[in-house]
Amino acid sequence: MSGALLDPRTRAPARARADALLARMTLREKIGQMTQAEKNSVTPDDVREHALGSVISGGGGNPEPNTPAAWRDMVVGFRRAAAESRLGIPLLYGVDAVHGHNNVVGATIFPHNVGLGAVGDADLVRRIGRATAVEVAATGVRWNFAPAVSVPVDVRWGRTYEGYGQDPELVGRLAAAYVEGLRGDRWDAPDAVLPSVKHYLADGAARHGSSTRWDRAAVKSVADDPTLANAGPAAEFLKVLDRGAWTIDQGVVEFDERTLREAFLPPYRAAIDAGALNVMASYGSWNGLRMHEQRTLLTDVLKGEFGFEGFVVSDWAAIDQIHDDPAVCVERSIDAGIDMVMVPFDWRRFMDLLEAAVERGVVPLERIDDAVRRILTAKFHLGLFDEAGEPDREPPLAVVGQPDHRRLAHEAARRSPVLLQNRGDALPLPPSLPTLLVAGAGADDVGLQCGGWTISWMGAAGPVTPGTTLLQGLRRLRSDADVAFEPDGRGEGRAVAGIVVLAEEPYAEGMGDRHSLALEPDELALVERIRARVDTLVLVLYAGRPRVLGDAARLADAIVCAWLPGSEGAAVAEPILGASGFEARLRLRWPAADADLPLHPFGPPGSGPDGAFEIGHGLSTTPWDEPDSAA
Ligand code: GLC
Repeated sequence: MSGALLDPRTRAPARARADALLARMTLREKIGQMTQAEKNSVTPDDVREHALGSVISGGGGNPEPNTPAAWRDMVVGFRRAAAESRLGIPLLYGVDAVHGHNNVVGATIFPHNVGLGAVGDADLVRRIGRATAVEVAATGVRWNFAPAVSVPVDVRWGRTYEGYGQDPELVGRLAAAYVEGLRGDRWDAPDAVLPSVKHYLADGAARHGSSTRWDRAAVKSVADDPTLANAGPAAEFLKVLDRGAWTIDQGVVEFDERTLREAFLPPYRAAIDAGALNVMASYGSWNGLRMHEQRTLLTDVLKGEFGFEGFVVSDWAAIDQIHDDPAVCVERSIDAGIDMVMVPFDWRRFMDLLEAAVERGVVPLERIDDAVRRILTAKFHLGLFDEAGEPDREPPLAVVGQPDHRRLAHEAARRSPVLLQNRGDALPLPPSLPTLLVAGAGADDVGLQCGGWTISWMGAAGPVTPGTTLLQGLRRLRSDADVAFEPDGRGEGRAVAGIVVLAEEPYAEGMGDRHSLALEPDELALVERIRARVDTLVLVLYAGRPRVLGDAARLADAIVCAWLPGSEGAAVAEPILGASGFEARLRLRWPAADADLPLHPFGPPGSGPDGAFEIGHGLSTTPWDEPDSAA
């Protein structure tokens, strides 16, 4: 790949131009490029004065008001300040647009990756990457912390839905397509967005119970944790802790190097070969070291063996977990191969500690130059230097949430549900159906169907952003039928068919780790209530991962896992009513009982318990308006 990275304006090797600029930089300016601050911890004046390399909106790091125009004003303000610094090195603004530009109200929200994996169509993912890049670039942002190439091992992990599945080949293929989508025709186009392939390495492989992200013995208040305090009220925090929050995420990976190389590395190879120039390190640890101090993996493997010419960014405050002494955290992470640090709060202290480490000779200047060269090379390659902070060539704000993007999201939401069970060919429901009873709050709630990483970090129930729901889709397709809606299913009348929607409460990261995936008692009770009132019962799951179904599998005639379909939830009605056919397949092993977890996807055949359903499972149906191929 050497030399493949060109500065598009001059067609000169971007690295050569990076070297020329590097020679003019002071040590402090170099360290500024290695610093990424959170937008509420920094001002444009700080960016100008310290020549910071990047600013980030963490999950929910939204401007007020949360509108595309306000986003663009905020981002351009930081970019202009960088352009006014002594050397005018352009700033990279970064966000988590993991299923569309999901922090922005009005943006198109695509199904989370777990649903896209179920479809398994690289072209669909590429088109979603392209639409996402256009909406992100319209707000002045040119760095997206996606795709996650997580291969979840224990699906109790709260980030299972951020990955495409447990098949490394599929994950690599879809991640490469997403990278190509973010690029579009060329990396220097004003609507190209830098991907961040994450989280390196084996982020989904931590053992349940091994995470030390939240030390319950310390009984410290979550209010003292500036990051988790963003996740919601302290009282709610204690409840999810009891249910298993922060028991897996950021935990210990216990696989051997051979498994790491065979199962978790290949997706990075695929994404880097597709042109990705940034990798984000993982919080977890392996062989007794945090990933953020794993010199072997970060430098010898990624930059040595793979020849990766881009740069590695840390995760949010992740280097702080290396040691009690902040100076040691800085020294060890930079020495291991971290090139830019997502600080995100006390960025001045980070800069001072790194400068002191270089001046004491603890961190060699060559390591600083290597890190900055990589960062500058990516910025030249993206063509940022000819914009000088002015977004006049970037897409217009009107593209955010535009109709053809919503149609694309609708297509993805229609194709991603997996039909797990279809007793008596209950689905598709007959077009002549006179009465349909719909139950479960999730049937008419955009927030629940979108899940985490939607407007706020954790996501939330309610009309959080414009979209359509399953209930609206059912009523639109069957305007002739009586489609009744009972969120709690406590009515009296009967119906020919019933649809019960069970939605996980939205969560993100370790806040979504659980001890159990079993349906809650009130969920099962709802299924039982509707079972008694209908002839045919369809169970629809909105979930970021498999659920242990228990008696629901006996009570329901048909079971559909619709994952987290995003803003265009009306699409889920189409395969249920036969306007389209079910096509998706499981890419995760589905447990029959909590006791069977984790169902290792890599174990030799026959090792450990069978799943209730296995990878590749998914029933197909034929739309009503197509001749039945089975006939
Ligand atoms: C978070 C996540 C990472 C995200 C980053 C910025 O903690 O681990 O996926 O990109 O911080 O929000």
